[in-house]
Amino acid sequence: MPLPIIIDTDPGIDDCLALLLALNSPELDVRAISISYGNTGVENAYRNCVEILRRANRRAPIGIGARRPLKRQLEVAADTHGPSGLGYAEVPPAGVILDYVRPLERLLDAQPEPVTLVTLGPVTSFALVLRANPDLVREKVSRHIAMIGNIEAAGNQTRFSEFNAWCDPEALATVLAAEIPTEIIGLDVTRKLIVRANEVERLAQSSTWLHDALRFYVEFHRKQEGLDGAVVNDVLAIAYLLQPEVLTFSDLRISVDLGDGQSRGRTKLDPKGSFARVAMDVQTPPVRRLLFDRVLLPSGASGAEPLPEEALA
Ligand code: BDR
Ligand code: CA
Repeated sequence: MPLPIIIDTDPGIDDCLALLLALNSPELDVRAISISYGNTGVENAYRNCVEILRRANRRAPIGIGARRPLKRQLEVAADTHGPSGLGYAEVPPAGVILDYVRPLERLLDAQPEPVTLVTLGPVTSFALVLRANPDLVREKVSRHIAMIGNIEAAGNQTRFSEFNAWCDPEALATVLAAEIPTEIIGLDVTRKLIVRANEVERLAQSSTWLHDALRFYVEFHRKQEGLDGAVVNDVLAIAYLLQPEVLTFSDLRISVDLGDGQSRGRTKLDPKGSFARVAMDVQTPPVRRLLFDRVLLPSGASGAEPLPEEALA
């Protein structure tokens, strides 16, 4: 039986790859997709999700989740993901969203059995459901897998903080306090998952749309940190569901910093914090293999092999 999942996401270039991996994986049953602000505004994120489904030739109910953080000002990551959220990839114009009637709460309520919730953006949508209807969450969410935070790795939004945690620390505090349980897949492991610039270049032959999205991401990483490739964080949360053995977890007590400045959204060890399973080690070759086989070069186009891992040093 495929694993039933709901994905809350802010697409986003790496979200796009993660969604395509989930949609192209028969082991997973994508019951619904909930859209969040984050990498871009919710109107763009919704439009991007519809376009991703269209290109994957798949359907799934889409709900609009959070439009802004619980307390903080809305700030999106146009420098990282482009003004549309999908780099240079061609997308239709975004419309005004009139239908707010199916937030994550409704999507969960519609499930006949508990599902795995995967969050690939700020966790505001989930925090809103937890605050409004905690019993529904206990009934319908069996596990929560979150691409969020960092313990030992440096931040990517501030020196200390990861972007999704930084966007809405209050939402993350709500989610951690609920102890669902949440499994955290943060920068400690996702930073190691890289698609190289020359691998992106090869996509120009096989998928111009993905090539256009990813070459923006590579340009950003080159400018920002001198990396000759792109870190595709969100893919790891989906790959983990397909091959759980790629991640090694530690059971930790952690909390999130609710202050401002460099520490805003910092996730850290805290003996008085909430219990969470945090991924601290990853084997990337099987994850890259999944990504190449199922998303980047699924048709066995020439040059379909991912480069050997040694080439990533
Ligand atoms: C996270 O932030 C976004 O840029 C990515 O989509 C990912 O979810 C990485 O910090
Ligand atoms: Ca994301």
